[in-house]
Amino acid sequence: MRTNYCAHLSSADLGQTVTLAGWVNRRRDFGAITFVDLRDRSGLVQLLFDGDSKGLEEAHSLNREDVVQATGIVSARSADNVNTDMATGEIEIKVTALEILNRSKTPPFLIEGDGSDTTEETRLRYRYIDLRRESMQRSLRLRHRVTKSIRDSFSEQGFWEIETPYLTKSTPEGARDFLVPSRMHPESFYALPQSPQLFKQLFMVGGIDRYFQLAKCFRDEELRADRQPEFTQLDLEMAFPNGKDEILATLEAALLNVFRENMDIELSVPFPRLSHAEALARYGSDKPDLRFGMEIQDISSLVKNCGFAVFAEAVASGGKVAGLCAKGCAGYSRKTLDELQAVAVSAGAKGMAWIKVNAEIVSPIAKFFDETELAAIISALGAVSEDLILILAGHGIEGPLGALRLAIGKAENLAREEWNFLWVTDFPLFELNEEGALTSSHHPFTSPLAEDMDRMVTEPLTVSSNAYDLVLNGTELGSGSIRIHQRALQEQIFKLLGISEEEAELRFGFFLQALEYGAPPHGGFALGIDRLIMLMAGMKSLRDVLAFPKTSAGICPLTDAPMPVSDDQLAELGIRTRSE
Ligand code: AMO
Repeated sequence: MRTNYCAHLSSADLGQTVTLAGWVNRRRDFGAITFVDLRDRSGLVQLLFDGDSKGLEEAHSLNREDVVQATGIVSARSADNVNTDMATGEIEIKVTALEILNRSKTPPFLIEGDGSDTTEETRLRYRYIDLRRESMQRSLRLRHRVTKSIRDSFSEQGFWEIETPYLTKSTPEGARDFLVPSRMHPESFYALPQSPQLFKQLFMVGGIDRYFQLAKCFRDEELRADRQPEFTQLDLEMAFPNGKDEILATLEAALLNVFRENMDIELSVPFPRLSHAEALARYGSDKPDLRFGMEIQDISSLVKNCGFAVFAEAVASGGKVAGLCAKGCAGYSRKTLDELQAVAVSAGAKGMAWIKVNAEIVSPIAKFFDETELAAIISALGAVSEDLILILAGHGIEGPLGALRLAIGKAENLAREEWNFLWVTDFPLFELNEEGALTSSHHPFTSPLAEDMDRMVTEPLTVSSNAYDLVLNGTELGSGSIRIHQRALQEQIFKLLGISEEEAELRFGFFLQALEYGAPPHGGFALGIDRLIMLMAGMKSLRDVLAFPKTSAGICPLTDAPMPVSDDQLAELGIRTRSE
């Protein structure tokens, strides 16, 4: 139906007769002359209808989003009509024939612009129109290109792309399962996979050696801007790796390729690494944003015998006193300091002390210290005149300090413009859940560090694991680990997690059995594709890089899913709802 895409035309095509097809972006009528901006996937070009044009009458009737086919001659615009804001602004198509292929109702929002003339709900309800917007097309094209680069890179590195089942059994990744009732087996359910974790490990037992997949995963959890109930992982696993180094290197090679091919950016590899303990102590986060400094300084030893009881008692009870230096922020108002304190408190701190470093020191806690002690604190935090010091005391203050660091970093716009990749390694094997029970920090298939194994039963919370995360500009992009490949150790972990032998057999028996048939040492990783594209596209929400996302309430406004189903369907599945 067409000879060219609109925005591929240029002055090099002057005099050519072309046929284009697309949507009416805008029409401007000047009586005997009508201009129409025609849009297709490539962009815009201006159509000119004048006295000589066959379609002038019909052009007058064109409205936004009507679908047309136009034939015409590529012509130069007069000097005063050149539009430098438009890629094809030097040319226009003098139309000789126009066919209206379909009419459009008035669209609920403008295609040009940033979408701020409507609500997100409306954009999602009319997603097929929203997808015509340039930013959506850019995101989806980037997504296509990035996944192609990833596929190329992993294929070149000897990985096979293999699909795993969607109708399966629960895979524990810390969220609730989406369940699918089985008609043929009443009262039985499939679970949609939270990840392909167990299947990819079975691939290693099966001698596949190197596997990858762009896998859909499903998790029923609270949604946020960077969480969707269904999302895509670049999932991979390799057998006989040279420790985690080889796994991290394959990912670095793929990301190098992705950024080189799609952003024209040469990443510097290997990416830096921080242990989990170090990330927490220095930046108060297991996914630190290293685009700015402002490291946490531990001043426990300086203040352990000081006259300020809050600090001295914090240290005496095994806690810490530590602080941050906000450069040039001594001018913060009382209100801003209260807001910062609220940030720290909502992250778990009991309170927040502050010191404004100026010619005169201003601080509610200054009276508890003599001049030498104050000078020592100020120097330990690296503060000079005009700086603001924030100090927290107690147990578990790293997280709150990390939250303060991010809040100030954002307010002061401290983050450098860069792609800051970081590996965080050696995560704890276990953590305590809200009920105070041991749970896996990553998932139960992660191997403990060999040197910590002897403390696994006596002091499980001090055991580190062979797990690693990839962080980009403060966002967790992916996680992985070296796995347990021996049944006895896997059973021991289940036991420590309070999973009885019977339950382990019921949930994971097939997997435990596979470990007994020559499972090789193996490890892998999963990278959140949607999050990667979101960051690469400069977007704030996964909804901007998914074609048909769910709202934060888990609803698809386009299809109105989830929906009640008919009584017949329920009866066939042997299901009765509670309200019946
Ligand atoms: P994990 O659970 O850490 O690891 O997930 C890996 C990555 O998947 C992305 N991700 C999400 N993206 C969007 N919406 C969500 N709801 C969501 N949940 C997770 C994140 C995350 O870092 N099987 C292990 C990996 C392994 O051990 O190989 C796993 O799934 O970017």
